[in-house]
Amino acid sequence: MMERLQKVIANCGVCSRRKAENLILEGKVTVNGQVVQELGTKVSEKDRIEVSGKVLEKVQPVYFLLNKPRGVVTTVSDDKNRKTVVDLIETEERIYPIGRLDYDTTGVLLLTNDGEFSNLMMHPSKQIEKVYVAKLNKTIHKEELIQLKQGVLIDNTRARADRIKLRKVNSDGTCIVELTIHEGKNHQVKKMFESVGFLVDKLKRERVGFLTVGNLKSGEYRALTPKEVHQFYALAKKK
Ligand code: URA
Repeated sequence: MMERLQKVIANCGVCSRRKAENLILEGKVTVNGQVVQELGTKVSEKDRIEVSGKVLEKVQPVYFLLNKPRGVVTTVSDDKNRKTVVDLIETEERIYPIGRLDYDTTGVLLLTNDGEFSNLMMHPSKQIEKVYVAKLNKTIHKEELIQLKQGVLIDNTRARADRIKLRKVNSDGTCIVELTIHEGKNHQVKKMFESVGFLVDKLKRERVGFLTVGNLKSGEYRALTPKEVHQFYALAKKK
């Protein structure tokens, strides 16, 4: 299959597609020994590509869904030597998480080695829905739910819930709220609730796009099916 040079470079995890385009324009990319500076150039599996003098290793794109447990960091390596989400997955490929869940947040987390897929999933304009379920330290009322829906200020930018609903009020006064957002600002959900006077005791990401953890137990993972990968591409491209 013939593919655009910048896409092939980005897919190998060397850099983003934008960066790959710059490398091509700067004359740092060769195909079968020839410098190529045309952005539209198509290449196949058989072509030998070098970027800044290094042969591009073809990597098999892989995609995983992890039911992230508490007490695991969402990075590739941790300077405090804590367990990372990547440690939980057995693979030869150099995978990384798509976006971030806090140390104590659980639920749906995707990991991949495919730069293009990761960029697509993370881009706020793609508006891939993320559904969170939060346990709050006290009962929330209609006014605060409306405020969160209309938008609150966190770190000087506006953040709003696409949908929000109170699922349950517990006998101890705490409550369970379901909140849907499509952005991924740092600690967004906790900060949104904090902005209206609530603390999040527990947080779970229940869904990303059409994907839930299904039967996966905490800490378990599975590969995405090719159909699911296509579905995510289709979902992101529609936006
Ligand atoms: N928002 C948060 O506050 N924490 C998460 O882990 C994810 C979203």
